[in-house]
Amino acid sequence: MKKLKAIVLGAGYRGRAYAEYAKEHPDQLEIVGVADPVQAESIPAKKYWSDWRECLDEKPEADLVMITMPDALHHEPALVALKSGYHLILEKPISPTEAECREVIECALAEKRLVVVGHVLRYTRYFAHIKALIDSGELGEVVSIAHQESAGFWKVAHSYVRGNWANSKKSSPIILAKCSHDFDLFIWWIGRKCLKVSSFGSIKLFRREMMPRGAALRCVDCPPAIERRCVWSARNMYVDHDELKYLFADNSDAAMQKLIEETEYGKCVYQSDNDVPDHQTVTMEFEGGATVSHVMTGFTAKNIRTTRIALTRGEIVGDGENLDICRFDDNPVETGVPLNYRLPNRSRHGGGDFNLVSETIRILRRGDPDEIRETTAQALQSHLICFAAERSRLAGGQIVEID
Ligand SMILES: NC(=O)c1ccc[n+]([C@@H]2O[C@H](COP(=O)([O-])OP(=O)(O)OC[C@H]3O[C@@H](n4cnc5c(N)ncnc54)[C@H](O)[C@@H]3O)[C@@H](O)[C@H]2O)c1
Repeated sequence: MKKLKAIVLGAGYRGRAYAEYAKEHPDQLEIVGVADPVQAESIPAKKYWSDWRECLDEKPEADLVMITMPDALHHEPALVALKSGYHLILEKPISPTEAECREVIECALAEKRLVVVGHVLRYTRYFAHIKALIDSGELGEVVSIAHQESAGFWKVAHSYVRGNWANSKKSSPIILAKCSHDFDLFIWWIGRKCLKVSSFGSIKLFRREMMPRGAALRCVDCPPAIERRCVWSARNMYVDHDELKYLFADNSDAAMQKLIEETEYGKCVYQSDNDVPDHQTVTMEFEGGATVSHVMTGFTAKNIRTTRIALTRGEIVGDGENLDICRFDDNPVETGVPLNYRLPNRSRHGGGDFNLVSETIRILRRGDPDEIRETTAQALQSHLICFAAERSRLAGGQIVEID
């Protein structure tokens, strides 16, 4: 089988996660070039550029371009790459605006190129098992789904209060940045289109007026009596604990100290540049009448997704790691079948990152034009729900129909 050649545009956390696949499967994938102004050489390749445009201007010989740059640098590079004949692994969101998302997918369909959007959850064993159960038909048809995305109090502070996705004008609305994964699952599981959406959400806590009296603008300057009781203290999150260090290429003690003294990540969570909600709820109606309610909240201990799917002949309940499946016609009725899907943390996202790359390789090797077109076209649907939900939230929960 032919080995695929890929270029990585953006050698940050996501670029490195996908590029790792080439290290473990050199017979399937080779990274031939990397563009990044700061850390291109963190991914082994034959050639490096400091900007995506310089790279694509040269039209290097490759099958696939991985676009793993910040949200605002997806649309234009995607169009240039597609028109130059490359297939794409494109990180979500396709773009922060609906018009640009449509333009990218329309361009891919016109050029007959594959676009695999970074909806990694559908490539995990846990969520794929739910899909297989639904598709088996044994439990009947999906009637309703209640799904909660527990974003984790620390994760929301890191990404959506202080970090890259805190301000929708600089990145994307949180419903797009965080929840397009979940909407992609609903579309995939139900196998129908979402028709109508309504949404509510706001910033409950991370507002200037909620700052404790006497606190400082930076955690390093905050009086210890306040700082030590604050679970969002930057020292607590980035220096005293190791959990978030993997997100930074240089995570030495000195670099983490500098991070909290000089960057956004050291700011008081009540004084950040954030404008995205810290909780948002979306309700949806799908073709055929199935309904879904999706709750995203930043006020949970764990960063996990829990799901209850009601079908006409059974129920699937998932706590994010185990599934309980109940068939109404079983005797006795209460027959939980706990399946443990805890996976080793070798590749992040429960194996989804690697499976997304291997599925892309499979589709390209097979070369079926229908599969390429369907995979590419479906990627847009989750984004359309996100944009409709955000329009609804800004209009006080008005029902928005999806075209
Ligand atoms: N699928 C998922 O679950 C998931 C998770 C996190 C992030 N994301 C998405 O992935 C994308 C990247 O996020 P990340 O966390 O890897 O960010 P990151 O900041 O770690 O990496 C982005 C990289 O792009 C580089 N870059 C910036 N401008 C560039 C240019 N002109 N040319 C080439 N490279 C350039 C930066 O130097 C940086 O190294 C974002 O769109 C984000 O929303 C997806």
